[in-house]
Amino acid sequence: MLKRKDLLGLIDASKDEITEILDLAEEFKNRIKRGEKKMSYLDGKTVTVLFYENSTRTRTSFEQAAKYLGATTINIVAGNSSVAKGETLVDTGKTLDAQRNDFIVIRHPMGGAPYLLAKTVKAGVLNAGDGMNEHPTQALLDMLTMRETFGSLKGLKVAILGDIKHSRVAKSNLFGLKTMGAEVVMYAPETLIPKGIDQLGAKLCKSKKEALDGADVVMGLRIQLERQQAGAFPSLGEYAANYGVDEAALAYAKPKAIVLHPGPVNRGVELTSGVIDHERSHIEDQVLSGVAVRMAALKLLNDAR
Ligand code: NCD
Repeated sequence: MLKRKDLLGLIDASKDEITEILDLAEEFKNRIKRGEKKMSYLDGKTVTVLFYENSTRTRTSFEQAAKYLGATTINIVAGNSSVAKGETLVDTGKTLDAQRNDFIVIRHPMGGAPYLLAKTVKAGVLNAGDGMNEHPTQALLDMLTMRETFGSLKGLKVAILGDIKHSRVAKSNLFGLKTMGAEVVMYAPETLIPKGIDQLGAKLCKSKKEALDGADVVMGLRIQLERQQAGAFPSLGEYAANYGVDEAALAYAKPKAIVLHPGPVNRGVELTSGVIDHERSHIEDQVLSGVAVRMAALKLLNDAR
């Protein structure tokens, strides 16, 4: 049983905890597919979604997840709140606590911000992406999509290509997938590989072919131009040619390999349109997995309160 107040990262999540979340998410995903969108597990609870960074998928899916579970949801966009008047994160948290919020879902450009908030508030805190650190529910939804396709995560070869350095998705996937017994290989320009990632268990590849060869999962990551001061590579065109995945590169992977991307995608940069819209692409299905995983996380954290 998940016994946590908060879900901040997968760095310390056990195999049992991940399995419990994925099992429940799978059940919720099937229930949503059958049209069941009104459940009462979080009746009378309040979930506040507090985003200091842009988002489409993550914000809407957390809100949907909370609503499907019967909670009341409140949406705070930092630019429209007292944050714009200079209020600190801790003071914002105290205000939300005083209003008896049960959960706060936070996205913040600074790594560690959700940890600071979690220490300060009584509400359960869910990290929806903190800077370049972690994005646990994204990795969980990626793992759910992989598990549904292959039955198990153990022994899968997952190739992650793209802007790994600035990616919280890559880090959460690395932690979660290693815990579940998968192999994680990475390929990107050296300027986009964070120092020490190999010591955390990633295998760094010297070529696109080496990364994709025999892969079960091909995961593209967005080039995060907003987190880059100067260019880490000469041009987007050169990046696409050398590090992007097109159909010819996809052919190195196993015949039944699937393509994932957390979105938003820079079409033609990380992945060509042919790969994004390929029959083996699960990019759209990942979105529903996202709602289901966030429902599972909210329900299990609520059960633990
Ligand atoms: C990712 C994020 O925000 O970290 N997107 C997402 O949550 N779906 C990846 C990205 O922004 O590139």
